[in-house]
Amino acid sequence: MPDTASTNSAKPSYLGLLNAIAVGEARAHRYLGEWIAVCTDPEVRAVLQTVAWREGEHGMSFAKRIDELGFSVRRRDDPDLERDLELARSTELSDREKMDHFGLGRLNETLSFFDDIFKDHTIDIRTGELLGRYVAEEFDSARLLAACYGRLCETAAETTTSA
Ligand SMILES: [Fe+2]
Repeated sequence: MPDTASTNSAKPSYLGLLNAIAVGEARAHRYLGEWIAVCTDPEVRAVLQTVAWREGEHGMSFAKRIDELGFSVRRRDDPDLERDLELARSTELSDREKMDHFGLGRLNETLSFFDDIFKDHTIDIRTGELLGRYVAEEFDSARLLAACYGRLCETAAETTTSA
């Protein structure tokens, strides 16, 4: 049985949010994949892999939800994508430098954007479930990445002191 939202042709107020998540998460899945392919630190790679699967699944789930609602994902121009993929697959840059570039050590700050999404009281039940699970998973990824970043900073500090 189709849910009420999919039979409603009116454009949901939160469609732009769903689109931004679908596009952003798929993008992160791509650059994380490039990074994982060259990452030699098993602990860092494990964290990146966990986060990459989540990002990829988020990208697909939000695209799927947009489709269920009767709309299509809109891709925007992304002039920085090639540069970011290049940077992610670089063997010159350290994992810590890559984390700095992508802001992965302080994702918590960026994610505070999501604190207000449920102020939109028109969000349908299925989308609300998806968003709630997504936000909780993003904060969990933020904790994993912040711990990983902290460890990389400690290792760098030890290397500097012992040098
Ligand atoms: Fe994400």
